[in-house]
Amino acid sequence: MKTTAPEHLLRADGVTVRFGGLTALEDVGLHVAPGSVVGLIGPNGAGKTTLFNVLSGVLRPTAGTISWKGQPPPGRRTHHLAKAGIARTFQGLNLFPMMPVIANVMVGADRLAGGGPFSLISGLGRHHKDERELRERALATLERFGIAEYAARLPGTLPYGVQKQVALARACVGEPELLLLDEPAGGLSGRQMNALAEQIRGFSRDMAVVLVEHHMDLVMDVCDHIFVLDFGKVISAGTPDQVRADPVVTQAYLGTPADETPTDGGPVAVDQGLNGTRRNGAAR
Ligand SMILES: Nc1ncnc2c1ncn2[C@@H]1O[C@H](COP(=O)(O)OP(=O)(O)OP(=O)(O)O)[C@@H](O)[C@H]1O
Ligand SMILES: [Mg+2]
Repeated sequence: MKTTAPEHLLRADGVTVRFGGLTALEDVGLHVAPGSVVGLIGPNGAGKTTLFNVLSGVLRPTAGTISWKGQPPPGRRTHHLAKAGIARTFQGLNLFPMMPVIANVMVGADRLAGGGPFSLISGLGRHHKDERELRERALATLERFGIAEYAARLPGTLPYGVQKQVALARACVGEPELLLLDEPAGGLSGRQMNALAEQIRGFSRDMAVVLVEHHMDLVMDVCDHIFVLDFGKVISAGTPDQVRADPVVTQAYLGTPADETPTDGGPVAVDQGLNGTRRNGAAR
């Protein structure tokens, strides 16, 4: 059947990033299909954050291309991305500490309207009606996330798990087509992580998700497709089961040669090793 919809929402081809003499990414290819949850994993220093920054448009690669719905990336500013339907969270919380929760989430909606973060803070060029709509939209999102009761609180007065939800709500308020999540499970309890898994599965009904995460249970649980980076290269890609069973992945995490990895219970060994730490201490 012929379809006009792009097969991939986001595509990276031949992406290389050099920081001076250090090659952080080399000839990386990656694709994200609409509505899919894509995991990006690899040991410390593998290049995950660098790739994330390239995908989210904030870092221009030394070589290679990124395309968004078959077009060049929409721009490097967060509000350009938001307008195009791309939203991200940060490894840290990146919330505005002096603004109440509702205003932090309104910033996300405001970017969609093209205002940039400071039009809301300064109030310049903003009409009461616009502000009321932003507020209603932000409040509806807080309700959807089950945190409306904290709307008037400053983020720093709230438990960490709630603050993470505020950051997620800010990314989702503009109803993006692609949500880029940078270590969303960092600092969460086991129970909160289970809830997050449920939430990410829910997101994928409306949007594609790219997940950079060290918590392998979460990655294996929610991802449709996983790309594994090591020393800046994609060393494995496939379904969670394929990646888990790939001896090359075990080798990268455990620092043991592929032909020495245990064949009985191999997947267990991989899961135990996939904690983000490069155990052989290999230097680039
Ligand atoms: N701005 C920069 N300037 C120079 N080198 C950098 C820069 N950013 C990253 N690097 C280097 O590029 C490599 C990849 O780093 P990156 O942060 O992408 O890894 P990562 O997979 O996200 O690691 P981690 O799991 O520890 O977060 C590392 O060797 C890092 O030191
Ligand atoms: Mg990183």
